[in-house]
Order: sequence, then C-alpha cells, then structure tokens
Amino acid sequence: MSDRQTDALSRLWPAYGLDVPDGPAMPVDLADLFGRRAPVVLEIGSGMGDTTAAMAAADPDRDYLAVEVHTPGIANLLHLVERGGLRNLRVAEGDALYLVNGLPEGGLDAVHVFFPDPWPKSRHHKRRLIQPAHVALLRSRLRSGGMLHCATDWAEYADAMRETLDADPDLVDAYGGFAPRPAHRPVTKFERRAITAGRPVADLLYRRR
Ligand SMILES: C[S@@+](CC[C@H](N)C(=O)[O-])C[C@H]1O[C@@H](n2cnc3c(N)ncnc32)[C@H](O)[C@@H]1O
Repeated sequence: MSDRQTDALSRLWPAYGLDVPDGPAMPVDLADLFGRRAPVVLEIGSGMGDTTAAMAAADPDRDYLAVEVHTPGIANLLHLVERGGLRNLRVAEGDALYLVNGLPEGGLDAVHVFFPDPWPKSRHHKRRLIQPAHVALLRSRLRSGGMLHCATDWAEYADAMRETLDADPDLVDAYGGFAPRPAHRPVTKFERRAITAGRPVADLLYRRR
C-alpha cells in the first residue's frame, strides 16, 4: 500500500469500516451503520473504489455499502470518502457472501456487481459470484422492486449471467435482454482495460418482483 493508503486505513477505518468475519452470519443493522434510514445500495467487489465513490457522491439520498477483499482498494476508497466528504458510504472488508448473509431480508434498494472476476476456465466456473445459489441469496436481500445490476466484459460470462438471472423466478429482466449502458455507472478501472482491449461490455439489470 502507498503511504497515503496506509494513513487513510488507520485513520478512517474506525469510522467507516466494517469487518466481515468468515463463518456464521454477522447481523448488520443498516440504520445503525449509516446513522440514518435511507435506501441502501450494496456494491460487491468495489476494487479501487473510484466508481463507488463517484456514485455515492452523485446519489446523496441513498447509502452505499462497498464490500471488497483487497486491502489497498479498501484503503483507497477510504481516502476517496474523506476527500469527497462522503457521509453515505461505508466499506466492508471480507467475503461478500458472508456479508450478505448477515444483511436483512429485503433490506437493499440495489446490488451492484461490476466486473466480477470472470474465472474463464470451465473448471473454475464454480468460483463465479453470479451462479444460482448466490443470485437467490442476493435477490432475497433486495426489497420488492429493488435492482440487481451486473456488468461484465467477458462475453461468455455475460451469457451465463443472463441465463442464471433469467432462471430466477423472482427476478424480472428490466430491459428484456442486455441493457443499454446506464449513464449513472461511471467507467470503472476494469472497464477502461476492456475498452482498450476491444472487449464489449454488457450491462444486465434485473428487478426483484
Ligand atoms: C475484476 S475486479 C473489478 C473491480 C471493480 N468493480 C472495477 O470494475 O474496477 C473484481 C473485484 O472483486 C473483488 N472480489 C473478488 N471476490 C470477492 C468477494 N468474495 N468478496 C468481495 N470482493 C471480492 C476483487 O478483490 C476485485 O477487486
């Protein structure tokens, strides 16, 4: 980590961080975490955090909970929280699925999964985040009408995501196919790489019934 990231982590973690232990679900009281009752967006795998910070800054009436396993990315996001004076962002460190297990059913307004690790080899597909059991868990944490928004630059994963999301009886495809790129999603670091490499990006937006 850079000195700036180390400094941000040590100073800001107590106020903005949430430790996610592996193992049994740790119940999370979202109103307590944010100090208010507002719609909550969960971002899974926030990477270096630029997108999360930009979306939270542009959307002050909703609260953003980012979850990431990569400590330098978490530290960078904490730095962005301070720099932007963001009061509606918290950062969880740990495995997203353990975090989601502890979130209240129907407690989320939206879940963002932007450029999850594609695990391109067939024998690694079982490690993918978007698979039926995980989607059922994520969907259960959405309120009725809440949105699950996924984006990927990996064409085969995009098709697999669509098949998995279409098969969930409680999700409705908001666009009847791949969605047009939403203007509210800033270009992420991984998206920039994909664009440079000439890989098209697919957005998928599904609403909980
Ligand atoms: C390909 S990167 C995309 C990062 C960011 N969303 C972007 O578009 O720039 C995937 C991110 O997911 C994180 N990640 C992978 N598995 C995770 C898990 N189980 N829980 C939380 N984060 C995870 C990785 O550390 C990595 O930062």
